[in-house]
Amino acid sequence: MNKPDGDFKSDLDPLHAEHVFNNTETRIAVAGHPIHAMLVAFPIALAVCTFGADILYWWTGDAFWARAALWAIGAGFYIGLLAGITGTIELLLVPGIRTRPPSWTHFVLAVVLLSMLGANYGFRLTGFEQAVLPFGILLSALCVAFTGMTGWHGGKLVFDYQLGTAGKKS
Ligand code: HEM
Repeated sequence: MNKPDGDFKSDLDPLHAEHVFNNTETRIAVAGHPIHAMLVAFPIALAVCTFGADILYWWTGDAFWARAALWAIGAGFYIGLLAGITGTIELLLVPGIRTRPPSWTHFVLAVVLLSMLGANYGFRLTGFEQAVLPFGILLSALCVAFTGMTGWHGGKLVFDYQLGTAGKKS
């Protein structure tokens, strides 16, 4: 029989289903506010800034923009790693997050994104000005596309499945 879209619960042992499935409350949080959600804003914004700085370097030829892109992608990569660590701990610790397949889709997208941010940063360390055209800017465009997909999918986990939220207080 076809399952309705998003019906992941019927794959679980019925004896444990309620307990596992409804346990989605964030554990890596400050006063109930998930740290992952606080950190992801940085790699998202910095990936877009890197692409913007690359375009401005291409347009003006001013080395300032190539240096700005190096700093933006470096900070985006390292803060992205921190976000990835907090997200992974949450994924492994919280049963209601672990058992939903979309959480793992988000994980795979995020690991690909982090590898691309790292490659974009590492490549520029060999010479931040020469790196921009053409490969740096192409890598930055790819990073922006993957940031969009990963971020949109992360939002889906929160807004569609209420994962990592603080739970009902009333
Ligand atoms: C590498 C491993 C990662 C894992 C395992 C992971 C896991 C999760 C989980 C479980 C949530 C649900 C909310 C929570 O529990 O905090 C979430 C939300 C989210 N994730 Fe990730 N994540 C990872 C990396 C990333 C990265 C690198 C980005 C950057 C684009 C990202 C963007 C988001 C966004 C935007 C949300 C929604 C936050 C909100 O609106 O509250 N994630 N992620």
